[in-house]
Amino acid sequence: MNITLLGSTGSIGVNTLDVVRQHGERFTIHGLVAGHNIDVLCSQILEFRPSIAIVADEQTLDRLQERLNEAGLPRKQWPELGSGPRDRVQAATADEVDFVMSAIVGVAGLEATYEAIKRKKRIGLANKEVLVASGSLVMQAVHQLGTELIPVDSEHNGAHQCLRGGKRSEVTRLILTASGGPFRETPREKLWRVTPEQALNHPTWKMGKRITIDSATLMNKGFEVIEACWLFDLPPNQVDVVVHPQSSIHAMVEYNDGSILAQISATDMRMPIQYAMTYPERDRAPVPRLDWNEARTWTFSAPDFEKFRLLKLAYQAQEQGGSATCTLNAADEIAVEAFLAGRIPFPGIAQTVEETLSRQVATKPATIEEVLEIDRTSRELARQVVAEPARVTVTMEHRDSNESL
Ligand SMILES: NC(=O)c1ccc[n+]([C@@H]2O[C@H](COP(=O)([O-])OP(=O)(O)OC[C@H]3O[C@@H](n4cnc5c(N)ncnc54)[C@H](OP(=O)(O)O)[C@@H]3O)[C@@H](O)[C@H]2O)c1
Repeated sequence: MNITLLGSTGSIGVNTLDVVRQHGERFTIHGLVAGHNIDVLCSQILEFRPSIAIVADEQTLDRLQERLNEAGLPRKQWPELGSGPRDRVQAATADEVDFVMSAIVGVAGLEATYEAIKRKKRIGLANKEVLVASGSLVMQAVHQLGTELIPVDSEHNGAHQCLRGGKRSEVTRLILTASGGPFRETPREKLWRVTPEQALNHPTWKMGKRITIDSATLMNKGFEVIEACWLFDLPPNQVDVVVHPQSSIHAMVEYNDGSILAQISATDMRMPIQYAMTYPERDRAPVPRLDWNEARTWTFSAPDFEKFRLLKLAYQAQEQGGSATCTLNAADEIAVEAFLAGRIPFPGIAQTVEETLSRQVATKPATIEEVLEIDRTSRELARQVVAEPARVTVTMEHRDSNESL
């Protein structure tokens, strides 16, 4: 199977290449698409010898060329090189490509993924912003063309596996598990003191920065609720979240007779990545299996929707429909950047998103260009919200005085 990997230098990208490395007989790499991380991309090119390699922009392309020269790779052996959105689309839609792993973070991966869907490439979908920002258009194309879209996010991948155990018409509920993040036990008023370093310290998963902060605020779980609604054609009130700190059960599906099927596996993204790449077959395990001789305890509890307001806002945005979830994602990305830069405190992320949502009128985008325009204006609004002096001063005072919300 010939693969284009969108986001090769990220956490999902690196894990995908490890699966490719372990199953050299099944997979080859057609395209590697990255942003700015030339060091990692260059070593991936040397190891996997793709036909095409794309970076975010022209300057990065110049640096990549220099690096390939320094590495001593003869020009004749270089892949075709390119940069920017159009070249990303080309890498994802080339005739030779059988499978596209969509693992760019943010809406930068939307267009290439959408075009690959339209060309009926089989898709492994990790880039959750694709469905959060543009679920209606993307799923319309998937259904119209019959494109296979296999979720890579561990929860949806788990649900995909559980759904193979019964009829879709008999499903009553989908249950997504959440680790609860590093602040599961932290009292609400102490969240004002949370530093970026603490928020980046996820208890069970090693991931990119954005998704790690989103896991700490439970925004990530909110995005997953939205994704699940689109992927499995369910209304938000049939998608539940349960806190399960051990992250061993990834998802559960309840059927109309009350039976629940759960998917359990090691907390390692190579498991869902490999499942998506080999589906409908299964291949040898890419990571050590769970050892049932070890004592273990699994716990479950309900999420705190007041402490983690972004989870509640995600349900509300999905209920509202149209572009509300696109704005939710765009505002969150800006707020997370501001938090990581020390410009707003941790609870300021939810405040920024809520305020942006209240100011942006939701519409129904009819094209990907319209989605990207809504994304752009939502970001602009969120930046304004972050920059409002009163807001920043008040929230920073909260942090210094450690008052409750
Ligand atoms: N990590 C996980 O366990 C996990 C689990 C479920 C879902 N996801 C989802 O999968 C996606 C990727 O997550 P991640 O954790 O792998 O993120 P990450 O480690 O931050 O990697 C992001 C990737 O996107 C690339 N990228 C960013 N901006 C780009 C641009 N403008 N053009 C081209 N490439 C660009 C980055 O390239 P450079 O690094 O070269 O700049 C990198 O390869 C996200 O949507 C995330 O929510 C991740």
